[in-house]
Amino acid sequence: MSSTKIVLNGSSNGRNLSRSMELFGRGQRVITGGNARLPVFQRPHPIYMAKGTGVHLVDVDGNRYIDFLNNFTTLIHGHGYPPLLDRLRGQLDLGVSFGGPTELEVEFAELLCDRVPYFDQIRFMNSGTEAVMYTIKAARALTGRQRIAKLEGGFHGSYDPVEVSLDSAPANWGSLSAPSGIPYSTGISESVLAETVILPFNELRASREILEANKDRLAAVVIDLLPQRAGLIPIDPCYLAFLREFTARHGIVLISDEVMSFRLSYRGGITCFGFEADLCAFAKILGGGLPIGAVGGPSRFMLPFDSTNGKPLVPQAGTFSANPMSMAAGIGAMQCLSEQHFQRLDDLGEYARSSLTEMFRQQRLPYSVTGMGSMFRIHLRSEAPKDYREAYAAPEQQERMGMFIWALQERGVIVSPSCQLCLSTPMSADHIDEMVASVRESAQMLEAV
Ligand SMILES: Cc1ncc(COP(=O)(O)O)c(C=O)c1O
Repeated sequence: MSSTKIVLNGSSNGRNLSRSMELFGRGQRVITGGNARLPVFQRPHPIYMAKGTGVHLVDVDGNRYIDFLNNFTTLIHGHGYPPLLDRLRGQLDLGVSFGGPTELEVEFAELLCDRVPYFDQIRFMNSGTEAVMYTIKAARALTGRQRIAKLEGGFHGSYDPVEVSLDSAPANWGSLSAPSGIPYSTGISESVLAETVILPFNELRASREILEANKDRLAAVVIDLLPQRAGLIPIDPCYLAFLREFTARHGIVLISDEVMSFRLSYRGGITCFGFEADLCAFAKILGGGLPIGAVGGPSRFMLPFDSTNGKPLVPQAGTFSANPMSMAAGIGAMQCLSEQHFQRLDDLGEYARSSLTEMFRQQRLPYSVTGMGSMFRIHLRSEAPKDYREAYAAPEQQERMGMFIWALQERGVIVSPSCQLCLSTPMSADHIDEMVASVRESAQMLEAV
């Protein structure tokens, strides 16, 4: 706990967090670990939020923050976006969920299929985890094979096979040319480890060898075009082209996890990178802030979900799948997200990355920035990482990052635990300037410790 002591004593910036502290104490008695969601836990305690308006959050003690987290990239329009609230209020009066389909799911599916021309059909679920899980089930059903390949450090939610090597460390990650498959949660079954093949991100030659050795047993290769844990570094176009060609040649389903990367452009990450996946998993911004997940693709890859002629190969259910509140919020969010919005977000993202980089240079701070479009990540190292292994933070580096993030919070800026930031449509250059000033002060504080 030494880190938090230093920060709390060093610079409280006049923020009173007593009610957050009290809620965490109450939470610890009745919620295992004190709060109900791992990524929002922090030492000495999480900050409990009371209200969001536009780009701002207000915590339970009345402190105000600029929200660069946006519920882990989900809230592309920020908080309380009026057209979205109107839709939700209207739907509240009609009913929040039914044991039957609604017109809204048809309307939303039409909107998305029109928008992303590469896919013909879509199905809805409740989270990114579920969406990725169903793409893998569909790939196994289509190919009759079991194995899946994923990128080292790639995060795809909380489904056993894609958690393998999510947080492998120097002591166990093996050689770069043949990364070891390391369990994330304790107790994961041996068969899951045996069925998961780990590829080194952007390492074409090593990945080709690994894929060659497994090609007849692979159902799917799961990729993320901008993997957050691997440093928020874009996938190399040659590497992507190789994966596309290899999987097509060997009848392996190429799955693009667009849970975060759908945020990259009006028609999603695949369009932005100019390729076609076989199946895509979506979530986050698609739900306008409400729980959602979706799987989309060409009809022949979506066939395993089809129940019109009897039991489908992959029965997909979910009590709240396609619930009308999520559908209404999703339609509201997507209808109000034009190509011009993406152009503006891209420009602001570029402004944020260049302002940070210039500030680090001027202040001689050994920090760097990665990212693309409306997302970026600050690294406490002078050279931007190029893969998961370089982006990996050892426990003492994680402690430093915790101090940095706490200092940012004290200066009114909310970011993710790995210091990823994302923009929302109501943001302007002024918000970026404020953030850069807070980053400068926080970094100077950290360097002085
Ligand atoms: C790339 C990616 N895939 C999958 C998930 C899991 O999504 P969810 O938290 O909605 O289950 C996430 C969540 O952050 C993600 O970033």
